[in-house]
Amino acid sequence: MTKAHDHAIGIDIGGTGMKAGIVDLRAGTMASDRVRIPTPAGATPPDMLEVAKQLVEMLGEDAAGLPIGVCFPAIVKDGVTLSAANVSDDWIGLDADGLFGDALGRDIHFVNDADAAGLAELKFGAAHGQPGLTIVTTLGTGIGSAFLFDGKLVPNSELGHLEWKGDSIEKWASASAREREDISWEEWGGRLQEFYAHVEFLFSPDLLIVGGGVSKNPDKFLPYITTRAPLVTAEHRNNAGIIGAAGLVLT
Ligand code: BGC
Repeated sequence: MTKAHDHAIGIDIGGTGMKAGIVDLRAGTMASDRVRIPTPAGATPPDMLEVAKQLVEMLGEDAAGLPIGVCFPAIVKDGVTLSAANVSDDWIGLDADGLFGDALGRDIHFVNDADAAGLAELKFGAAHGQPGLTIVTTLGTGIGSAFLFDGKLVPNSELGHLEWKGDSIEKWASASAREREDISWEEWGGRLQEFYAHVEFLFSPDLLIVGGGVSKNPDKFLPYITTRAPLVTAEHRNNAGIIGAAGLVLT
């Protein structure tokens, strides 16, 4: 039997899939199988809320009454979603904590997806115990970022929207841009090199962590990138959002 104080549910909302699991908050590990449902077309708040309810049901009896952390691909401030890069514009300015909390009848904590991944690395991964500034970047549909300074998250850094050639740099350097344009790993590595050089120039981090699904193949693109700070892969990949979001219920 799980208990509210050492387990929580994490829900990871993405542009293509919504995933959930029960997390052991002490160990920072999954305490259930991961369940997944494709993101409904249009990605509107009511449709995604329905999917969130189904995901919690799929987790079964052990999930009953557990608090929930939700990570979301947008700026999130005080439980309100403030942008919408790959989801419906209806999320902009929405009290997401309130909407989901009322419908699911329990405490809900929304957080930006990259910030959740950053928290997972901070508590249980490559950023644990790191002094100074660590920047976590997630390479996927967009580019997400998390700033971790002396063990604390500085939320909503949005480095994927640094302007580059008149547009957000994620349109050119994300993992989805590589697939969409069908460019080689070397060419993509060159684009990432420009991204990381720009980030280093602006913020002088002490450590860079690369996350997102693509970080399970580091040999394909890391050899093309040189940075002043060490550049390492995230320890949590597929489950980073779920683990990081669930951990929010402790804060
Ligand atoms: C969003 C960020 C998000 C990132 C990764 C960007 O388009 O603006 O909030 O963290 O994609 O999903």
